[in-house]
Parts: sequence; C-alpha cells; structure tokens
Amino acid sequence: MKVPFFDLKIQYQELKADLEPEILKVMESCAYIGGSTVAEFEEHVADYLGCGYAMGCASGTDALVLALRACGVKPGDEVITTPFTFFATAEAIASVGAVPVFTDIKEDDYTMDPTRIEAALTERTKAILPVHIFGAAADMDAILDIAKRHQLRVIEDTAQGIGGEYKGKKLGTIGDVGCFSFYPTKNLGGCGDGGMVVTNEERLSTILRALHEHGAGMQGAKAKEYLEGTEESLNLSEKVDGLYNPYKYYNYLIGYNSRLDAVQARILDIKLRHLDGYNARRTAIAKAYRDGLTTNVILPSYSDTMVPCWHQFVLRTEYKQELCDYLQEHEIGCGTFYPVPLHKQKAFDKSNARNTEVSLPVAELISSQSVCLPIYPELTDQQVQLVIDTVNRFYQEKAV
Ligand SMILES: Cc1ncc(COP(=O)(O)O)c(C=O)c1O
Repeated sequence: MKVPFFDLKIQYQELKADLEPEILKVMESCAYIGGSTVAEFEEHVADYLGCGYAMGCASGTDALVLALRACGVKPGDEVITTPFTFFATAEAIASVGAVPVFTDIKEDDYTMDPTRIEAALTERTKAILPVHIFGAAADMDAILDIAKRHQLRVIEDTAQGIGGEYKGKKLGTIGDVGCFSFYPTKNLGGCGDGGMVVTNEERLSTILRALHEHGAGMQGAKAKEYLEGTEESLNLSEKVDGLYNPYKYYNYLIGYNSRLDAVQARILDIKLRHLDGYNARRTAIAKAYRDGLTTNVILPSYSDTMVPCWHQFVLRTEYKQELCDYLQEHEIGCGTFYPVPLHKQKAFDKSNARNTEVSLPVAELISSQSVCLPIYPELTDQQVQLVIDTVNRFYQEKAV
C-alpha cells in the first residue's frame, strides 16, 4: 500500500458528478469574469466565516498584496511577520515596496511569538502579519493588543487556515483583513489558482475591490478618497446598471488585474459545502497520529483557545533526513515545511528586509527538524495506520 503525500484525484473522482455539469453551465453562460457566480461564492464565504465582506482574487499571494495596499502600506514601511511560513507571506510585503521584519516564533505551536514583536517596532512599522501556520491559530489577542496600542493594522495570512477557529471566531476574521488561498492542495482547493480577501470594514472592502480591478470606476474614486483624502468630482449619483459602467475607463489608483474567475468560483462553491466534513476528517486523522505515534517525535502543542483545521500534520525529529528517506523507501510521502526560514532565504538581505542577519533560534530549530506527514480527508484508516506503524518502526530500528 502506498501513501502519497497528497492525492487530488480521489476528491475529483468523488465530486466529478457534481462538478462537471456546473462547470459546463458556467462555460455555456460565457460569463467568465465576475458576474453572479463569483458574487454568490463571495457571499457564501462571508456567511461561512461570519464576516462582512469577501472578495475573490487571483491567488493567496495576491490576497496579501491587496490587503497590504488596502491597509495603506507604502514603500519603505515596515511589516512585522514570521520567518516560519511559505515564501509568499514576506514576498507580498516586499512586492509592495515595504520591508518585512522577521521576529521569532513560539516553540509550542510555531506561530509568531507576540512577546518578540514590540522590540521590533519602529516609527515606520505599519502592520503585523501573523500566519495561521499549518492551520493553527496565531496568538491573536496578544497581537491585536500590541496593534491597538501602536495603531497598527493586522493582516491575517489564513492561506492554510480556512475553517480553523480562535476563541469561537473563524480564522481570517479577527484582524483587519484576512487572506485566503485556494491553491489545489489547500483545505478548500480549486482546480487552479485562486484567493480571497475578507474584512469587516466597508472602507477596506471598497479599496480592495478597486485595487483588484485596476483602481477603476466609482470604487476607484472612492478608494482614492479613502486612501489619500482627496475628493473626486464624480457624479456618484448617476445611475449605473448592468454592463454599462460609464466610469470603467477612468482609473484613480494603480491597481492590479487580480480576479477570481467564474469557473474556479463555481468549483470552490461546491467544495465549500464539504469543507467542514473535510476538516473533521483531517481532525480525526490528526488525533489518530497523536494517539499512535511514538513519543520519540515532538508534536506541536495547540492551546484550547483554538480549533486547528489541520492543513498539515507536523512533527519534529532530530533524524529529519533519515526519517524522510525511510518513509520514501516505504512509499509514504512526506513534506519538510519549511526547510529555510525566510530570514535565511537568499531573496532577502538587509537591502530589502530586517533581521536577516540575526539569529531567530526557534524558527531555525523548527525548520531543521520539521517533517509533515500525509493528511487529507481521503486517506483511509489503513493508510493512516501504516504511516503510524512506519514512523514507529523507524524509531524501533534506530534503538537497536
Ligand atoms: C502561508 C501561505 N501564505 C501565502 C500563500 C500563497 O498562496 P498562493 O499559492 O495561492 O498564492 C500560501 C500558499 O501556498 C501559504 O501557504
């Protein structure tokens, strides 16, 4: 029996009968960009998360870029974030011309350590960007408290956290803006790239909508007013309906083309109905791993203030490479997220980031030891047991 690290085919086969006719309907509608399919999905995500506004965009990376811009982050501003995350988190900060400032993480759950944040603040700090890494909640109360005291925005990177909770709230709805990814292997994964930005502030929602479509039209004018305090001389009371938008070719901000397309939105809308079931299965698999794995591995400890959505199941071992090779030999896939903490990535140095030359010991330790085991809803109990037995046998053989 093989256990791939992920297997997208099974979910597709299970949902094929529901997905294919709906994809064809969108094809036949010829409404490929925007329109009611995207709007419905956005509404369903907002309802699911319990937040005011949700806007589809082209990827999780774009969601972060749009959120940073909407929060008024400008070239030269600093944004405090974690080094233990996927590259896109800090890449988004750098791509708006701002400076990622890396601070260390907590050894229990690998999220940002709020006790490190205040020492990193300067007069240029604009925002804090925590990541709900592997689907486990960052310490949002402590982060929001710092943000409030220093008038900073909080942008949640929830690319790995959809459906997870912190103190009864869905991840991504706790700070000012939440950013989601629908990359195919995510807990809610599309058949291509896709992302979502959510907020409870009308003002931020207007700016996000303007930026994702070239800063154009009435939204663009309003967004410029919000961001720059200018008053635009548009006759905003003029009736605009249907496809006719007299302002579409008037641009007020330099934005992006970053839209979620209708085919992806329809696919994701159908999958959204299954998300809680998928996350429940991930939780059951995580429990089986936690109960069954040898005590030789170190597992993260998640506080009961959170309900993780188990995007990844990570363990720590001092025999990282050997364990990965052993699993591979036994046809079990594994991941090593993330082998290079971002303050050590070649793309960052003191010219475009801060704290690249200091040691962030916890992030460095976890990066050197982390191994992720297969976790996706379609894994069978037999496969889960095989993974447990194989990891345990690796340690038994080591002890001989
Ligand atoms: C933590 C984190 N942030 C951002 C992203 C970027 O999302 P996307 O790949 O949809 O651009 C990812 C996705 O892999 C991620 O895991």
